[in-house]
Amino acid sequence: MTELPGPERRRFLRTMAALTGAVALGTTAGCKSPGSDAATAGTTGAEFGGRTLTSAAALPKPFTTPLPVPPVKRPSRSTADTDFYDLTAREASVEILPGPRTTIMGYDGIFPGPTIAARRGRGTVLRYRNQLAVPTVVHLHGGHTPPESDGFPTDLVLPVTGGAAFAAQAVGGTASTGTRDYTYPLDQRAATLWYHDHRMGFTGPQVWRGLAGFMLVSDDEEEALPLPRGDRDIPLMIADRAFDADGAFRYPAMDPDLKSMPGVDADHMAGAAGDVILVNGAPWPELEVDAVRHRFRLLNASNARRYELALDPVPPGGPSFTQIGSDQGLLAAPVRHNTLPIAPAERFDVIVDFSRYPVGTRVTLTNRAGSGGTSRVMRFVVARKATDDSRIPAQLSTVEALSTKSATTRPWMFRKGKVATMGTDAAGWVVNGRAFDPRRVDASPRLGEVEIWRLATDAYHPVHIHLSPFQVLSRNGGPLGPGDHGWKDTIDLRPKQYADVAIRFDDHAGRYLLHCHNLEHEDMAMMATFQTTR
Ligand code: C2O
Ligand code: CU
Ligand code: CU
Repeated sequence: MTELPGPERRRFLRTMAALTGAVALGTTAGCKSPGSDAATAGTTGAEFGGRTLTSAAALPKPFTTPLPVPPVKRPSRSTADTDFYDLTAREASVEILPGPRTTIMGYDGIFPGPTIAARRGRGTVLRYRNQLAVPTVVHLHGGHTPPESDGFPTDLVLPVTGGAAFAAQAVGGTASTGTRDYTYPLDQRAATLWYHDHRMGFTGPQVWRGLAGFMLVSDDEEEALPLPRGDRDIPLMIADRAFDADGAFRYPAMDPDLKSMPGVDADHMAGAAGDVILVNGAPWPELEVDAVRHRFRLLNASNARRYELALDPVPPGGPSFTQIGSDQGLLAAPVRHNTLPIAPAERFDVIVDFSRYPVGTRVTLTNRAGSGGTSRVMRFVVARKATDDSRIPAQLSTVEALSTKSATTRPWMFRKGKVATMGTDAAGWVVNGRAFDPRRVDASPRLGEVEIWRLATDAYHPVHIHLSPFQVLSRNGGPLGPGDHGWKDTIDLRPKQYADVAIRFDDHAGRYLLHCHNLEHEDMAMMATFQTTR
């Protein structure tokens, strides 16, 4: 394919014009989406405001698949200060449900993609190649990354073959054909980061099909702590999916080929959620553990679903989880939780002490925000006693509070709004009343200055800010939520809430994003651009 056929192309141009143009300030007459009402009506079973897609495929019994752990990728080449990785996005056919095959879009053909083990201050370069049939963009979520490597949604990596047909989609961005180098200085604290697709209008379906993986950044400070390590330090990528009868991923895309028309059908405006919970790509898996402390790096890589994680049974003496880290690394001191709410893209680094359970106990990681199949995540079997030289120190790190004296407050309102997609005024999602326009700058914060960003919502919106971490100051003017401690890059906001966060951008001048990390909201225009200046 060298060019989109006529009607395709016209439709695409209309779509892009609409997505990149102003919000139509129309009446609500054009709003005919039943799903969009559910989005503000609160919960309809899935605790994020939307409805769950039902699989047609036969689903496995929970806890019958062993937990996979994504392989750690080896660098292709290393110099004194930099590791180079060759990473290829391609289709692959894999067995997720027992029996049928599922075609995925995978980094190196696997889902989750390979884990990249990085070190603070050592450069990591991804030499990325796009062997898929559609444009892609790689973003390192949580990375303190120069703008040209941050994965702006129209900095497209076109397919190796047939890419020219998509070149016009790089509105306000740059297109490269087939390959691109992403350079990550990683001058930042040890933390659980993840990389995922960020193509404008198509992030939801492309992550749903598998384009997500971990990057674990370590540093001297964290390594000096006596925390569980090795095979007792396990990343858990939690993501829901639904499946067609033949094993294909089921997703309510307007354009199943992901060529030109972004967004999902009207019933799923609130977000795509499935009835199968995958952990590291396996449905409701099981892990045998020694009766000792384990460290789990929890990531909610779901498009839209929020979870409230708990252990069943709760360990004698409680609590279920001792949190040691947040999105952006170690807390100052551990925080204990019996249940842990986790919104899309949030990470929690927790210790679970299995020595409190008798050997033989089966411990389910449950989701109190789900029902039926989505109320379970995975299961641990406490298999045997073992020695444990790990400890959880009372002091983990130092987290200096950002000073907000004389800081200005910038309001950001996340709500439903008109986005003129597909030539008609359609319901979408907007920030400060405007649909995303990759050619527009919505704010210009100065590097080095602390600002207060007031993030406000109509519905569930997990808000994420690129480039620099933030500290939550208050929620609705009151105390923090349970998941708000430490350095964050994503915050779990519920309907009609606001949170004040303190943020200071450092080092890199350029164009970055803030957006809702409900990926369907993001694809339907809920992003804004800020330009950091010196
Ligand atoms: Cu995890 Cu802008 O994304
Ligand atoms: Cu990000
Ligand atoms: Cu949202």
